[in-house]
Amino acid sequence: MLATSLVALAVLVPALTNAAAVVPRADPCAAIANQAFSVPSKALACLKSFPFNETLRQNVIANIAGVFDFYTFEDFYLDSPPPFQESTANIRAEIARINTTKFETDYDFNRAVYNFTTKLNDGHTRWFPNCYTSFQNLLPAPVVTLEENGVQSVFVAPDSTDLIPLVGTEFTDFFESIGFDWQRLAGARVLEIAGMDAYSYADLIASTESGNYLDHGVRVNSVFSSYRIVDTDFSQRFGDIGGPAFPDRDSLTFKLIPVNSTKAEVVTVPYLADYLGAPFTDQASFWTANCAANDETNGVDLKAAENQRKRQLPRRKMARASIIDIAPSNAVGLPSPFLPTLPPANGSTGVIKSFILPSKKTGVMFVGSFEGDFNQFQTDTDAAIKQFQASGVTHLLIDLTNNGGGFVCLGQFLHQYLAGSSIGNPGFQSINRANPLAQKILAADIALGLNEDLTFYTADNWAFLNNTEEPASHNYNNPSVPFKVNGVTSQNSQRFLDTCALEFIVETPTTPPFNLNNVAIVGNANCASTCAMFSTLMFERHNTKVAIFGGKPGLQMEYKGMAGNQVLEWTDLDDEIKTAGVDSDPLAPPDLLVNSNMRHNWRTAWSFFNENIPIAYKSELPQFRFAYTKDTYNNPQNLWTFAEQQLFK
Ligand SMILES: *[C@@H]1O[C@H](CO)[C@@H](O)[C@H](O)[C@H]1NC(C)=O
Ligand SMILES: *[C@@H]1O[C@H](CO)[C@@H](O)[C@H](O)[C@H]1NC(C)=O
Ligand SMILES: *[C@@H]1O[C@H](CO)[C@@H](O)[C@H](O)[C@H]1NC(C)=O
Ligand SMILES: *[C@@H]1O[C@H](CO)[C@@H](O)[C@H](O)[C@H]1NC(C)=O
Ligand SMILES: *[C@@H]1O[C@H](CO)[C@@H](O)[C@H](O)[C@H]1NC(C)=O
Ligand SMILES: *[C@@H]1O[C@H](CO)[C@@H](O)[C@H](O)[C@H]1NC(C)=O
Repeated sequence: MLATSLVALAVLVPALTNAAAVVPRADPCAAIANQAFSVPSKALACLKSFPFNETLRQNVIANIAGVFDFYTFEDFYLDSPPPFQESTANIRAEIARINTTKFETDYDFNRAVYNFTTKLNDGHTRWFPNCYTSFQNLLPAPVVTLEENGVQSVFVAPDSTDLIPLVGTEFTDFFESIGFDWQRLAGARVLEIAGMDAYSYADLIASTESGNYLDHGVRVNSVFSSYRIVDTDFSQRFGDIGGPAFPDRDSLTFKLIPVNSTKAEVVTVPYLADYLGAPFTDQASFWTANCAANDETNGVDLKAAENQRKRQLPRRKMARASIIDIAPSNAVGLPSPFLPTLPPANGSTGVIKSFILPSKKTGVMFVGSFEGDFNQFQTDTDAAIKQFQASGVTHLLIDLTNNGGGFVCLGQFLHQYLAGSSIGNPGFQSINRANPLAQKILAADIALGLNEDLTFYTADNWAFLNNTEEPASHNYNNPSVPFKVNGVTSQNSQRFLDTCALEFIVETPTTPPFNLNNVAIVGNANCASTCAMFSTLMFERHNTKVAIFGGKPGLQMEYKGMAGNQVLEWTDLDDEIKTAGVDSDPLAPPDLLVNSNMRHNWRTAWSFFNENIPIAYKSELPQFRFAYTKDTYNNPQNLWTFAEQQLFK
């Protein structure tokens, strides 16, 4: 029998006949193909099945080293000032370390680059290898920090019973099939996670995996589950403990006390990996679909008409400053019992949701992001505020919870709308780096007669400090301006302002629509990029009250993070390089061979309080801190009603 089947096999698969002793290895990617959810170790086996490749390492290392030349905060990292000292790194030494470390797999190499950039804690400056960020681990027990009877503790989110089914029956069926009862964990008080005090575990994840925000306290809030808006819908984020970015843990062990129990028990909760990538059937097609560079990976010369079509030009290129959160790819909604029950005000179909609270005294704008439709954001702001005014509203509460930023000019629009156009330029003084390649790009753009239609570098993107637009022919890198920090001097551009007012389609009021003392901001400090700039403008220029919820009890927390001025994705930077025609310069980073993105913070915004300190490094604490309760952590309307009583007494 055995001999017969071997012969039959040899006929079917002739290649095997010469290596009859070699047992063909099962394809770990084929084993999880076409599955929405996988056991994490099986997903990881697929990711780890690609061997380390020195050619790819040299390509990636050369690319990211070249991108870091443009990073405005590089020298700050050598010794980050308190309270940001955790975010200290010698960037060039880290790159050199990763360039010489021995790695077994391509995943391990990419994970090392990912870890290094994540721990810079600047969401604008990160390595995203799409190949390996194609799963999100999900736990059927996301955690929150709540105050109960005057004491704050970590809990399994009490609304888990409503939230988890929204992930889908394929998710819940898995737990049923293994007989795991996640329902009874909802609302349990968590004493320990992974054998550590629950808040210490939150600190560990905030230090090693959350990234994005310079301030540790802000990152602690990222590990917990929280409400947000994704695109234009209410959603609930799992948090970095409940929904980490890699399928590298099969389970998490909790010591917890279930609801209505007094006895602590140890429960090991399985994760399940949610697939976010493109369809595949086996290892080779996984690589093609997710890992190999494609025609979106690298930049193009925008002088060519077909490339302008590809980038949907001549729509004006608009500066962006935003977070990339892996979690929205498969976002689940906020469970319906916790959605606002008040009727939405006018202008609530986009990223802003506005309401008038039952007191009729306070209008709320939940500004979910500064993304989406650039013009609609402006018309929605106008519509909501006009309705508030027509209804006799006197106070304005702005909720910035989990606002990941977006168009730089929409942050400045909202500031100018609320502060009145008589404030002058609504933004900050700004610079980018005048490194040797940047100098060549700008000089080449000027020689080619390019302007803001095709480039971010030309000076007509900016205004002089007297708020007149610069001519495209102005070389703001000549002379460049030295800036010294941590003993290192680098060359920057001359200072300039944004020219956002040129892009506003809604006329902003000349005087503030509400007394600015009656405007307050609430949020969870996960307020990134454009959101950080908007809230800093309100705080620094109008002393706006800011109330931050959550965090670790007793630990200081900034009210925002990720406060660069503009992010460039790798494709954006490469578009600049190729459009300027300097791509064959030895300083130009090579095209990536893999489907990845090395984004970076390209511009610094200087604090209005001290124009030698970037707003990113200016420690600013909220005037108010509140704990979440089981009534407010996932219920925006309850939170707003509470905040109104506290802030507008
Ligand atoms: C390494 O990657 C390069 C670029 O994709 C490829 O040409 C080469 O075949 C790979 N080397 C090995 C040993 O797989
Ligand atoms: C990485 O190491 C290689 C030698 O292995 C060297 O040629 C290359 O310049 C190094 N890259 C960087 C960015 O240091
Ligand atoms: C990356 O960071 C994670 C989380 O701290 C850690 O478990 C993993 O070992 C790190 N991997 C590499 C390659 O540095
Ligand atoms: C806990 O006890 C209360 C009061 O008896 C009951 O209403 C509730 O359903 C119980 N909750 C759970 C999760 O058992
Ligand atoms: C709200 O929108 C409706 C429909 O567009 C409009 O008729 C109404 O005048 C608006 N209300 C205010 C106060 O602007
Ligand atoms: C604004 O500043 C620029 C550069 O210094 C100068 O050339 C221009 O004349 C100034 N414009 C006004 C209106 O003051």
